[in-house]
Amino acid sequence: MENFVAYNPTKLVFGKGVVAQLGKEAQPYGKKALVVIGKGSVKKNGILEAVYQQLTEADISYTLYEGIKSNPIYEDADAAVAQAKAFQADMVVAIGGGSVIDSAKAIAAGYYVNHSVWDFYLRKAPAPTKALPIFSVLTLAATGTEMNMFTVLQSDAEKAKHGYGSPLLYPKVSFLDPEYTYSVPQNYTAYGVADLIAHSLEQFFDTSNSPLSDASAAEIIRLAMQYGREVHKNPHSYEARANIMWLATAALNGSLSAGKLGGDFGVHGIEHCLSVLFDIAHGAGLSIVYPAWMRHFYSQIEGKLTFLAQRTLHTNATANDFIVELEKFFTEINTPIRLSEAGIDREKHALILDNLKQNNPKGRFFKLIEADYNSILHLMA
Ligand code: NZQ
Ligand code: ZN
Repeated sequence: MENFVAYNPTKLVFGKGVVAQLGKEAQPYGKKALVVIGKGSVKKNGILEAVYQQLTEADISYTLYEGIKSNPIYEDADAAVAQAKAFQADMVVAIGGGSVIDSAKAIAAGYYVNHSVWDFYLRKAPAPTKALPIFSVLTLAATGTEMNMFTVLQSDAEKAKHGYGSPLLYPKVSFLDPEYTYSVPQNYTAYGVADLIAHSLEQFFDTSNSPLSDASAAEIIRLAMQYGREVHKNPHSYEARANIMWLATAALNGSLSAGKLGGDFGVHGIEHCLSVLFDIAHGAGLSIVYPAWMRHFYSQIEGKLTFLAQRTLHTNATANDFIVELEKFFTEINTPIRLSEAGIDREKHALILDNLKQNNPKGRFFKLIEADYNSILHLMA
């Protein structure tokens, strides 16, 4: 087991109606909030109104930054920083999925500096020493950003997507009402399930010996398959939505990395290349890359795959059964397992290879070099 620090300062408030506590939680942090949202789903389903009511009751005035796109771009975060500065915001309130919350984290750090937030992601700027407090109202179960210190943004011009992390970027309080996810369409619900499974796998394929983390990762995957099927059949099942929501948080809030070195994340690196090239949803990209990656490294991970198969399927299941059954599950819930299913044909392979060479995703335990990119690309076709 590796040395580790367990630290997670985010207060998570989970369950029906929890947004009613937002005003009380935010009040000690100031009088002015920058509210950040995506392309409008939270206007249609009434969540924005519920948050406004909380802020008003707590005597917090607000200004809205609207329009964060899925696979968020740094230019939006820079524009929102300017708005926050002009408004003299004391806090950022993010209402949305990973894209909105990740942008809010960038805004929170960007507030106290005079350069583009992108410089953090490029490691051109020193680490932030201050950030605005962040409150998040999660509307889509997937990334875990509501209870971690990471943020991922992209530059369309540079065709690059990068992550950044700072302990200053843990949300102060995150509000998770599973009923808020009833309106997530079937495709994004499935992509979220694929993302949470991928996070469990990334940490599971950190080969450091941490039996509790490995058993927990396998159990999260087993439950994600069970409740993923349930939510696909019955999108208004509270139990299914609630379990998926908590599984997604638990998959990337640090607990699966205890006793490990932080995970492999080579598959995430490859997926980020697909997302900058084709604007494919993050989870959809992962459900394509992961099976190919597991086949490519099969001989090195057979023992670990067998462990997963026996924990998630049945006691006699084999390593190969795990890959086959995971693909069947992804197909059943309608998230793609091949590039062709996502409308990316062979003509695009050269483009993908060029981007992989440019961004050079490495993987921490299963090192990736150019020959690996070729083989994995072939397996994703
Ligand atoms: O923009 P709106 O109109 O709000 O619509 C969104 C968007 O179109 C919609 N949506 C969200 N909640 C909804 C809803 N529609 C109806 N009802 C609701 N309740 O869903 C679409 C996707 O939203 P998005 O935030 O993009 O999805 P997700 O949560 O999957 O976030 C993806 C981003 O997170 C990054 C990804 O790379 C990607 O950029 N990640 C962040 C991580 C982190 N910070 O720890 C880790 C992850 O590995 C991931 O890389
Ligand atoms: Zn992810």
